Amino acid sequence: MAWHLSVQVDRDSAVPLTAQLQNAIKTRVEDRVLHPGSRLPSSRQLALDLGLSRSVVVEAYEQLIAEGYLDAVRGSGTHVARKMPDSVGDTSLLDSRPATSARWDLRVGIANLSNFPRQEWLNSYTKVLQNVGREGMDYPPVAGIAELRNELSGYLGRVRSVHTEPGQVMVTAGFAQGLALLSDSLQRLGIHELAIEEPGHSGQRRFILDTGLTPLPVPVDEEGLVVEALERSGARAVLVTPAHQFPTGVMMSPERRKQLLAWARARDGWIIEDDYDGEFWFDRGIRPTALQEGDPERVVYAGTTSKVLVPGLRLGWLAIPPKLYPLMERVRSRQDQGSDTLTQLAFAELMRSGLLDRHLRRVRSRYRSRREALAAAVHESLPEARIIGCAAGLHSYAVLPPGTDEAAVVHGALRRSVLVRSGAAFRFGGPPGEPGLLLGYGSLPLTGISEAVAAIGASYEEARRG
Ligand SMILES: Cc1ncc(COP(=O)(O)O)c(C=O)c1O
Repeated sequence: MAWHLSVQVDRDSAVPLTAQLQNAIKTRVEDRVLHPGSRLPSSRQLALDLGLSRSVVVEAYEQLIAEGYLDAVRGSGTHVARKMPDSVGDTSLLDSRPATSARWDLRVGIANLSNFPRQEWLNSYTKVLQNVGREGMDYPPVAGIAELRNELSGYLGRVRSVHTEPGQVMVTAGFAQGLALLSDSLQRLGIHELAIEEPGHSGQRRFILDTGLTPLPVPVDEEGLVVEALERSGARAVLVTPAHQFPTGVMMSPERRKQLLAWARARDGWIIEDDYDGEFWFDRGIRPTALQEGDPERVVYAGTTSKVLVPGLRLGWLAIPPKLYPLMERVRSRQDQGSDTLTQLAFAELMRSGLLDRHLRRVRSRYRSRREALAAAVHESLPEARIIGCAAGLHSYAVLPPGTDEAAVVHGALRRSVLVRSGAAFRFGGPPGEPGLLLGYGSLPLTGISEAVAAIGASYEEARRG
């Protein structure tokens, strides 16, 4: 059946064709021009109708499926999703929408419910409720309650070598709110551009754009952000993931760290350190400390419970340089009246009692075995891929041989009920780079890893044969 879809793309535009197509469909879904359940043409048909290469349409469909706008049902084609993701139209940093049709979901940012320490959390929360007085039920200080700021500054020093004081710590609703506050504050300082890593987090890039800053992509190589390129960008602020670059997994080398800190001093600039998964380090040898340690006057350190516990808690923190702190506190007090006190108290109790450390030890070893299982599965089923970056976090990045059609591999995997992202999803229009796949293992059971990678391996072989 040759279904029709009325969309247009502009070949003369600087916006890549995949992004144009994606946005056009997304807008129609959001505006309810395209209704839930509506059937879309096959990728082959739409490519033909629009005079595009099929891989452009496949990539756009794949992205929209991953975001929950479309459903691909085996045997009956692609439809507008019947149940829209709750987050349609929101500015979430993350890609954590449930995949309706895939058996294995290798996207990052998916909560692993079985790892959440329910009993410990319940015990901490119960203790808080039994003891909380009037002050705990009133409006909290906007930057966070003293108990949590004290615990956090001690914990960050002990676990990540962050150099801070309770008075410099601000509790936020995850890194998302931290980034929004930073964006607002930077703009008040007359800074309107924020350098970001490429490849990088596409959700973050969109989020930054929405906050009014212009993101300036700067390349990353095997040592981390290329500081010479940052210098050329003219930016005065940069967002980096030095412990475990997102998505490549590269750790910023000591030399680059020095260069980056020197750049900030010379440029009178600011560095935002997104330490999203710094607690999960699996090599028993060297462990990167926070970049912030090198210059607490220039680096804003950001952490979150999204990986350590679950994203749904919406709890994060910033360690802010003294010079920036008063402005950020003012900006925050115009935005809301602080974070939920009971959650802050419960998290402080979890830290104080040592239960958080115990939990981290437990899940670290689970994630380590998942990472090992993933490396073994890649070796077995995708032997031509090369995992790069360090053994850390909840995802690995696999580079595929030059010329591999990433979109075809991703689409083939989806047909086999595996949802995985290609390297293209993390590039912003710079040099295409090597083809690759981001393999998130945080929410997969051990047994699912080999099955999922075997399906990806089969898709790779299929794509290679053309
Ligand atoms: C690169 C990166 N930064 C930050 C975060 C955390 O954001 P938030 O604390 O808003 O959940 C994530 C996801 O967990 C991420 O992948």
